[in-house]
Amino acid sequence: MRKTKLCDVLGIEYPIIQGGMTWICNPELAAAVSNAGGLGLIVANAGAKPEDNMVENLRRQIQKTRELTPKPFGVNFPLLTTTREQIDIVIEEKVAAVTISAGSPKAYTHYLKEAGVKVLHVVASVRHAKKAEDEGVDAVIAEGYEAGGHNGLDELPTLVLVPQAVDAVNIPVVAAGGIADARGLVAALALGAQGVQMGTRFVATHECVAHLNFKKRIVEAADTGTVITGRKLGPTRALRNEFTSKVLEMESRGAEASELQAFIGLSRSRRGSLEGDLEGGEAYCGVVAGMIKEVVSAAEVIRSMVDGYSRVVAQL
Ligand SMILES: Cc1cc2nc3c(=O)[nH]c(=O)nc-3n(C[C@H](O)[C@H](O)[C@H](O)COP(=O)(O)O)c2cc1C
Repeated sequence: MRKTKLCDVLGIEYPIIQGGMTWICNPELAAAVSNAGGLGLIVANAGAKPEDNMVENLRRQIQKTRELTPKPFGVNFPLLTTTREQIDIVIEEKVAAVTISAGSPKAYTHYLKEAGVKVLHVVASVRHAKKAEDEGVDAVIAEGYEAGGHNGLDELPTLVLVPQAVDAVNIPVVAAGGIADARGLVAALALGAQGVQMGTRFVATHECVAHLNFKKRIVEAADTGTVITGRKLGPTRALRNEFTSKVLEMESRGAEASELQAFIGLSRSRRGSLEGDLEGGEAYCGVVAGMIKEVVSAAEVIRSMVDGYSRVVAQL
């Protein structure tokens, strides 16, 4: 397949980003994606315990990833849990790119860009895409409501968000949310995106450190296997289970945000994704789980998208 502007910005072969995923973006996964020609990402808390030092953990993850790939890779920072010390490590370690989510692009964009790090900002509306462009980011990741994990408040689906973001900004737009195969890749490019970011598809890979129970539940999931909870706190998409039923029940009886927050706690998603408690834990997951039928290697994910691209285009 042809290279896009995103490939030029990031120095990668194929316009495919493995999305940042709290607790489970480990060096083996990120390196496998980068080695296969995409952009792999790690996170500061990958494989960690909640009480671990996330600054030291991040440095270890970066160094380990570098041992496993000579190719560019990145770090994802959800702003709420990010510190200046972590940003400084990325600069010291000369990481190629960061993706920043859940916060203002004002926070670190200039600082990172002055140090030569490429910055991609995750957005869920046209307004936020424009704001990120104004702050000087290199690309925006337009993430629709289909996506696993924390979603935008406005509930915009990818098919509608991406073309509007493309029309509104002059920097590359990456489509995220609901993409798991070559059909999604071609559709995203048809909408004007310069690449795609996938999360859920990469959970169900051999290299991902996510618990096997989590991968198994993704493979077994039907089209209706995920649900949004937490509209009072910030909507979150996860696999349906006892935990999400309990939260929905609390929400329907009008529980306050503080009560919900106390019930959810701080590392509920670690319990679901790393410890494998698929009933008591929260397992962030995109709607696209219904399309994922087996656990494969990260390289196979990339290969099938790249090979499938020409086939899908030929069929149009
Ligand atoms: C298990 C899981 C955890 C996630 N955690 C994060 C995160 O920590 N930071 C972030 O920016 N996005 C996070 N996301 C969103 C992904 O980076 C990506 O944008 C999203 O999964 C794309 O949609 P898809 O799930 O349909 O592929 C997470 C997604 C999943 C499935």
